[in-house]
Amino acid sequence: MRAHATFFSVSVGALTAFATAQRSGEVDVDAILARLTLEQKLGQITLIPIGEPQNIPDKDRNSIVGNWQEAARTGRVGAMYGANTAAYTNEIQRAAFEESEHGIPLIIGNDIIHGYRTIFPIPLASSGSFDLELMQSLTRAAAVESRAAGTHWTFAPMVDIARDPRWGRASEGAGEDPWFGAKVAAARVKGFQGEGLDRPDAVAATAKHFAAYGAAVGGRDYDTTDMSEQTLREIHLRPFKAAVEAGTATLMTSFNDINGVPASGNSFLLQNILREEWNFDGFVTSDYTSINEMIPHGFARDLQHAGILALEAGCDVDLTGRVYQSQLTEAVEKGLISEATIDKSVRRVLEMKKRLGLFENPYGDEDTEAKVTLSDEHRALARKAAAESVVLLKNTDDLLPLDGTRGTIAVIGPLADSKRDSLGTWAGMGRAEDAVTALEGLQNAVDGARIVYAEGCKPDGDDRSGFQAAIALARSADVVLLFVGETEIMTGEANSRADLTLPGVQRELFEAIAETGTPVVAMLSTGRPIVVPEVEEKADAVMSVWHLGVEHGNGIADVVFGDVNPGAKLTMSWPRAIGQIPVYYARKNTGRPYRPNTRFVNRYRDMTMEPLYPFGYGLSYTTFELSGLDVASPEIGTRGVATVKATVTNTGDRAGSEVVQLYIHDRVATLVQPLRKLRGFEKVTLEAGESKEVTFELGTEELAIWNGEMDWVVEPGTFGVYVSTSSKGGLEGEFEVVERGTNGKMWGEN
Ligand code: BGC
Repeated sequence: MRAHATFFSVSVGALTAFATAQRSGEVDVDAILARLTLEQKLGQITLIPIGEPQNIPDKDRNSIVGNWQEAARTGRVGAMYGANTAAYTNEIQRAAFEESEHGIPLIIGNDIIHGYRTIFPIPLASSGSFDLELMQSLTRAAAVESRAAGTHWTFAPMVDIARDPRWGRASEGAGEDPWFGAKVAAARVKGFQGEGLDRPDAVAATAKHFAAYGAAVGGRDYDTTDMSEQTLREIHLRPFKAAVEAGTATLMTSFNDINGVPASGNSFLLQNILREEWNFDGFVTSDYTSINEMIPHGFARDLQHAGILALEAGCDVDLTGRVYQSQLTEAVEKGLISEATIDKSVRRVLEMKKRLGLFENPYGDEDTEAKVTLSDEHRALARKAAAESVVLLKNTDDLLPLDGTRGTIAVIGPLADSKRDSLGTWAGMGRAEDAVTALEGLQNAVDGARIVYAEGCKPDGDDRSGFQAAIALARSADVVLLFVGETEIMTGEANSRADLTLPGVQRELFEAIAETGTPVVAMLSTGRPIVVPEVEEKADAVMSVWHLGVEHGNGIADVVFGDVNPGAKLTMSWPRAIGQIPVYYARKNTGRPYRPNTRFVNRYRDMTMEPLYPFGYGLSYTTFELSGLDVASPEIGTRGVATVKATVTNTGDRAGSEVVQLYIHDRVATLVQPLRKLRGFEKVTLEAGESKEVTFELGTEELAIWNGEMDWVVEPGTFGVYVSTSSKGGLEGEFEVVERGTNGKMWGEN
């Protein structure tokens, strides 16, 4: 935190009659704008971090808090972030809303990534539920808690497509698939924004990071991205477009450059695509000092240049960089930027404050806050979400679920009993003490005497002194649940990893426990896919249990003992080796497709190209079979709709759910298309022996491709269609798209 002891020096008195009038009638944004000085305008497009009072060192407290309040009172700041609780945000808000000349409320933002105080599974994990309603209910609950605490704006959802698990921020998104990512983006935005931004339980969403941030080369956070317009539009922009269509109030630019132009100064993205093509009418914020960072990028000469480039490109708000505030007055005076350009962004911010109802009431509500924060209802939701996010990856001889009434269960491993790691990365106002660890959850579920525990080793480092005790414990038990993986701090922002194997000596611990001969369930607690072929080979069962939030342990216990039958799927492929990355499923074919025992084809000479676990994969305690693929419309027009049906049957002996997935392959196109693209899914819950017919409709939205000539088109030709339970295998069919029917109309049209 930086102190700016003399930055804000003017003190202003109470509200003017004009400001008071705004509260009783229709807020007139233009009239407000007309009254602001240039400095106050720049204040509206400036966001400063404030932090919690307890985190501010005593020596700085008066000066920093004093300055913030002064900034609010003088109208030289329009947005703050990092403040929490209604009591504190209200105190800050009062300075702007009641003690400033124009009485313009602050918009208070926060990173509510997977919950405010009730922390839900990390977003990558909950995306695996393939349950859009559930995902929407999680962001809804987060919004209810946030708004009561005086936060009006969340810097979420992150909708970046992540195809490289080295990138730590994969944990914050919905994985590798753009079509799925678009559905999730829309659901999460709708959850945050609820029934309307002006409702007292809504927060403005931020689709971030615009754009292609997840495509950083080498999986290194902040690194460069370079890609064709086809890849940009088909893959990386798709979820952003869906977020805009779902009404996201704001977008945040990304740190990276795209084809040489940093995102915060990228008018192609911010003007041409976002405003002109998509008609976005909210505002855009920079990322944390991303405007300033255009200097080291080598795009801006100095801060003033950076400020001009960013604002002119369409980056409305400066998040913490103070570039607009410190540079643009002089730039206007020198005629380097017009005040009209500044007005455009200020107007957008004021409009958003109006839409959020902040001119009527910008305050948090302490009574509601006390009721909703970490409420029983939200905890119950967190538990359901936790259980629905667990992915069963292997289950030899139906080792799972465990019978909680018999035998001894050895719980081993450095991720078994860590409260902070249970919450996961970027846990908002989440507190470690709120979290139920896996060990605690398992102990809650069965007679505690059945559970014995040893840490075995630390998550990192080379200390093997705990091995012997852990091995002895494993030998004495009937089954081992071995919790290995990543701590939360190994994941998230600025936590790219070049080695995705189990950190420290965890792999050695796993090998030693596997050698005891006691059946082992590997419980992989991670924020991303990791590289564990040895685990797949030697463990009897494997589960991906991620970082599941406050109800981490209870959710895990629900699955381990079979109260919940796992139904989640992977939304990112898990590589076998780091050298396979990127290993996403939607690859294009080459001119030399792979053939076994052949040299000059597309392959690795030392390893298969197949991932360890593919996108869409995940098992259940029951089994499912697909049958009866019916392409009901074998021929459609370019604007028609193809209908594809298949039957899914629960062939096991307990109820469960399966995610039936539909993929297409546009076999010949003007731009080469992936071998498979997800274009439909339905999560179906079936009793033992029950069947259901699932119907998918493929229309323009599903079939159109970016054709390289500024157009989305459905091209005539043959489409392969696959109905399956992961991105591999399944039932296969095809249909034809033709230009016109014989009657002169498009086939499939009325
Ligand atoms: C992150 C953003 C986040 C912002 C504010 C940045 O470092 O990239 O995602 O919203 O900080 O905390």
